[in-house]
Amino acid sequence: MTLEQRQEAGRRQAVRRGTGDDPMAAGAALRRAHGAVQGRPGEFALGGRTWTLLPGVFAPVHTMSTRLFTGWLPYPAGGSFLEIGSGAGVTAVTAALSGCAHVTAVDIAVAAVANTEVNAQRHGVAGRVRVLKGDLFDEIGPDERFDLIYWNSNVIDAPAEFEYLDELQWAFFDRDYAAHRRYLSQGPELLAPGGRMFLGFNTLGNRDRLLVMADELGLEVRTYRRQSGALSGIGVELSLLEITAG
Ligand SMILES: C[S@@+](CC[C@H](N)C(=O)[O-])C[C@H]1O[C@@H](n2cnc3c(N)ncnc32)[C@H](O)[C@@H]1O
Repeated sequence: MTLEQRQEAGRRQAVRRGTGDDPMAAGAALRRAHGAVQGRPGEFALGGRTWTLLPGVFAPVHTMSTRLFTGWLPYPAGGSFLEIGSGAGVTAVTAALSGCAHVTAVDIAVAAVANTEVNAQRHGVAGRVRVLKGDLFDEIGPDERFDLIYWNSNVIDAPAEFEYLDELQWAFFDRDYAAHRRYLSQGPELLAPGGRMFLGFNTLGNRDRLLVMADELGLEVRTYRRQSGALSGIGVELSLLEITAG
């Protein structure tokens, strides 16, 4: 089977998987739930702490993923942590509160950057959490290295012609899996010796395409931890994947 055929098979399998529906439709439903204004709290509790939730940001109240992945990550005590796509900032702030000496939180969405800053202030770790607006690793200095790199990613493999209409769509859709490809290809270069790289994923994502990409880059993807659950009522399996050199 050619690479293109494997990718297409991966795409078709992704469409059958998860809800049994089209992941694009599931993504649109999630975008609506996370963007809904009515009933959206300005604060939420998670991990024994209270967090500010700003409008237009991926809302941990509508997902299990933030809580599960934040609880599962092996934070490097005294080390450096890079979170791509920090959203409301729960994981980045928890990393700092869990003993990481240096935390960098990046998000492509302006509202998410603001939300992460607010929660870093709220929990007294603004001095150890650097928050950057950027696309994946673009704002990371050439000599920076991290002990742990993590992204709870926008798992839905959107078609190449997909157009982003608002910032919140970045939380769910990755056009032609370009950001996943870059995460896999550039992330390992930014690891300190002994550093580890993780991806928060679920069954709405195109795991087969991810595996093909990893294989092409000589990487292995293993499930670090997983759990069945639901995202806004859509049944999924959530997995924290670890990316390692093959
Ligand atoms: C599924 S949400 C996770 C948010 C947060 N980490 C959490 O677990 O609650 C994915 C996040 O990745 C961000 N994102 C998507 N593409 C990105 C990119 N290319 N660079 C940086 N952030 C990105 C989105 O804006 C969104 O905040």
